[in-house]
Amino acid sequence: MRAIKDIIEQVADTNATVLLRGESGVGKDLVARAVHSASPRFDKPFVKINCAALPTELLESELFGHEKGAFTGAYRRKLGKFEFADKGTLFLDEIGDLPLALQAKLLHVLQDHEFARVGGREMIRVDTRVVASTNRNLEAALSSGEFREDVYYRLNVVEIRVPPLRERKEEIPILVRYFLQTFQREYRREVTLPADTLGCLTEYSWPGNVRELENVIRRLVVLGNIQQINGEIFSRLTATGAAQSERSAVEESVAPASPGDATMGLREIARRAARAAERQVILKVLEEVRWNRTRAARLLKVSYKTLLAKMAECALAPRRRHTS
Ligand SMILES: Nc1ncnc2c1ncn2[C@@H]1O[C@H](COP(=O)(O)OP(=O)(O)OP(=O)(O)O)[C@@H](O)[C@H]1O
Ligand SMILES: [Mg+2]
Repeated sequence: MRAIKDIIEQVADTNATVLLRGESGVGKDLVARAVHSASPRFDKPFVKINCAALPTELLESELFGHEKGAFTGAYRRKLGKFEFADKGTLFLDEIGDLPLALQAKLLHVLQDHEFARVGGREMIRVDTRVVASTNRNLEAALSSGEFREDVYYRLNVVEIRVPPLRERKEEIPILVRYFLQTFQREYRREVTLPADTLGCLTEYSWPGNVRELENVIRRLVVLGNIQQINGEIFSRLTATGAAQSERSAVEESVAPASPGDATMGLREIARRAARAAERQVILKVLEEVRWNRTRAARLLKVSYKTLLAKMAECALAPRRRHTS
């Protein structure tokens, strides 16, 4: 991460657009905030918006605002995130999911720093620095026509790739120490980590990256049960084959219960069974539509938002479509 820190310092005081790439949980949010804090804009707003969380029309109005009467229910003028982030930084999270229909408008703001609110004619000028992030393979999205090339080049002025945790294992002990301190303070608990536990933590491949590590340490402090955590980590490590070691902690919690798990109670067993069934179907549909979530939601007859929530619950994310 030192190299990344250097780049952040180099680009912070320019207005260059920064594109953050990397798997889920590697710390892209953190880097985006660091770019803002290191920039002369640090005392102006840092505004974040998730481009995957909203359907196109809502997202347009969130980004660019709308005028009174722009659509049914637009009772008053609303400012968009670009205006809120004026003189500050706008963080466009999951930019790879920005609908094509909005990409042209984004390009216009990036190039000319102006746009019109939805339903408005007046051009609004803003001085907003854009940092975007994605864990999708944007190049694939370019060739499939889901992402415009001009927008891609305009966003990609400075690209920062945040590497997965397994490529920077030397940071694991530092992060473990940091999270231990943080959570011990937060939960007012003391735990001592045996050396072999740290060894296991360093060995493990962390498919969920820093987020997964953070959760394991949090659980360790909350439960205070080193033996249990040791056992868990050990079984994750030794779980047969590479496929297994790629599974994240969350995925384990969505696996159906086996007869030996009777102690977890009927309610939990039912919950797991339902979730495992849902997961299987969602995964199948997603694979059929090549992870196009809009289409998957339609096929599954749920809203886009519900699908995203379910995917998070079931620890479903496109595999090997992340950047490399
Ligand atoms: N170097 C770090 N030091 C301390 N905490 C970290 C570090 N990197 C990441 N984290 C923590 O790990 C968690 C995940 O990080 P973050 O939300 O930035 O990931 P992300 O790359 O944005 O993931 P996603 O693609 O899923 O949005 C956060 O709680 C964050 O605070
Ligand atoms: Mg993020």
